[in-house]
Amino acid sequence: MAKAFMARHNIPTAKYQTFTAANLEAGFSFLETLNPPYVLKADGLAAGKGVLILTDLAEAKNELKNMLVDAKFGAASAQVVIEEFLDGIEFSVFALTDGKNYILLPEAKDYKRIGEGDKGLNTGGMGAISPVPFVDENMMTLVRERIVNPTINGLAKENIDFKGFVFFGLINVAGNPMVIEYNVRLGDPETEVVIPRIESDILVWFELMHQQKLNEAEVKFDPQTATTVMVVSGGYPENTQKAKKLWV
Ligand code: GLY
Repeated sequence: MAKAFMARHNIPTAKYQTFTAANLEAGFSFLETLNPPYVLKADGLAAGKGVLILTDLAEAKNELKNMLVDAKFGAASAQVVIEEFLDGIEFSVFALTDGKNYILLPEAKDYKRIGEGDKGLNTGGMGAISPVPFVDENMMTLVRERIVNPTINGLAKENIDFKGFVFFGLINVAGNPMVIEYNVRLGDPETEVVIPRIESDILVWFELMHQQKLNEAEVKFDPQTATTVMVVSGGYPENTQKAKKLWV
């Protein structure tokens, strides 16, 4: 599991414990030891929506039960990670790796909350920007040294033969980058602002990745800013209205 991998390689992340329906009561007890807000994460694939952040202890316990016992996110929430809340601002970093070398793509920031003014429920992402104004060269040096290098080296050390994109979901906590999550893909909607900034030929990168020669790649990015905004159906993300006809 990702959190255990981070612990093995000394990669900064929030304190956590994992629970299933079999130890629900222990989950309640762990929640009681934390300060609000409470972070509950479905441990499986939940299309970027399996994270709840709750300010009230009773509500957090109730949602933990909904996830573990009532399968709120289906099989994805059969196991739930309860995490220490990190107070900071999130951003996303992407690497393309051949298992030994990597190219760091332009960083991005997605905006996950449904409402205007960054309010309301979490979604898969309502929009994104790249570059990110608060992510400067100094922050990216820390990201490379503390997070990306130990992750890519950790995969090799553990004989995990991985070639492809690694998505680092990060948070800047008082100047220190910490990992919120990994994905082995690009981000949605971050891809829409990252890909337009790549000036080099991405197909050449893929060929070099296949040959484990990404260190030979030409890497050129467009310094201009890219943005994207999502249009979603009414009710999203809880009761999304589906099967609408957009054109008749
Ligand atoms: N935008 C978040 C994700 O792709 O997981």
